[in-house]
Amino acid sequence: MLIRRPDAIKPSEITPDSVYLRRREFVKAGVAMLAGATGLVSAGSVEAQGRGKKLAGARMSNFSTMEKANSYKEITSYNNYYEFGTDKSDPASYAQKLKTRPWTVLVDGEVKRPKRFDIEELLKLPLEERIYRLRCVEAWSMVIPWVGFELKQLIQQVEPTGKAKFVEFVTVLQPESMPGVRAPVLDWPYVEALRMDEAMHPLTLLAVGLYGETLPKQNGAPIRLVVPWKYGFKSAKSIVRIRFVEKQPKTAWVKAASNEYGFYSNVNPDVDHPRWSQATERRIGQDGFFSPRRKTLMFNGYADQVARLYTGMDLRKFY
Ligand code: MTE
Repeated sequence: MLIRRPDAIKPSEITPDSVYLRRREFVKAGVAMLAGATGLVSAGSVEAQGRGKKLAGARMSNFSTMEKANSYKEITSYNNYYEFGTDKSDPASYAQKLKTRPWTVLVDGEVKRPKRFDIEELLKLPLEERIYRLRCVEAWSMVIPWVGFELKQLIQQVEPTGKAKFVEFVTVLQPESMPGVRAPVLDWPYVEALRMDEAMHPLTLLAVGLYGETLPKQNGAPIRLVVPWKYGFKSAKSIVRIRFVEKQPKTAWVKAASNEYGFYSNVNPDVDHPRWSQATERRIGQDGFFSPRRKTLMFNGYADQVARLYTGMDLRKFY
């Protein structure tokens, strides 16, 4: 990853977000009190944000962290989406030209029932709200309230064959609206991949929304991957194809610098990046340059759920 000094971002508390989160805590407490309740809450009951389209009926997930979420402004103005430029502010400035309709996601390769899904069909799947930590390889982090569904739900529909060992995510390439792809920073289109068991893990999410609304373009509209125990670059944005393959795919960052970015990219405070430590991180909007950095947790704090996927593997070798 191209690395510059992480930019300072001012803590900005946006009223609608704090209202949203207070409401969410309130709803969550109510749901907890009603033992045996379905857990279903209507996202439509949440204050309008006046930004994306509201996503109704998202279910609150038990997988959510209770940590303080970053504000909508922080999550949508400090981004990595190199197709629009390498500066953190470029995606918010330039991604608005991205065409997100019509949009389909082709799911094919080693599957019995290949299918091209229309985004409108995917938006009708039962959605969940998941508040996850996102730890970037550049040693900053955020807490983000995603709306989406488990990737597993899609995988089960296409019935992978016994040869499907990896899942590749190909993201959109629209040169006319992407100023960043004129520079050969990466081998476009941006490609990421997971091992089959990682893809099937219940924490692995396809996100279609943020803060109860459809995804902003800079965050990967209309559909992006979220894998909370891996560095942020695994979360491919604006996916157009999901392909099941037998051999480990060559991903965009591995092609660019395999000594710096491995296929697995699990958050691991014990394995430094060749140019900087991964032991600590700075929470955007909460930790200043002069306040102590927070310790990075193994698998980004999701070790209880995912460590077993890597039993017996040397995580220094398979970084
Ligand atoms: N997806 C595409 N297509 N292009 C990119 O440059 N950057 C990745 C990932 N997905 C990237 C991408 C990186 S490095 C990170 S940290 C996350 O997106 C950032 O997601 P966010 O901007 O929503 O926080």
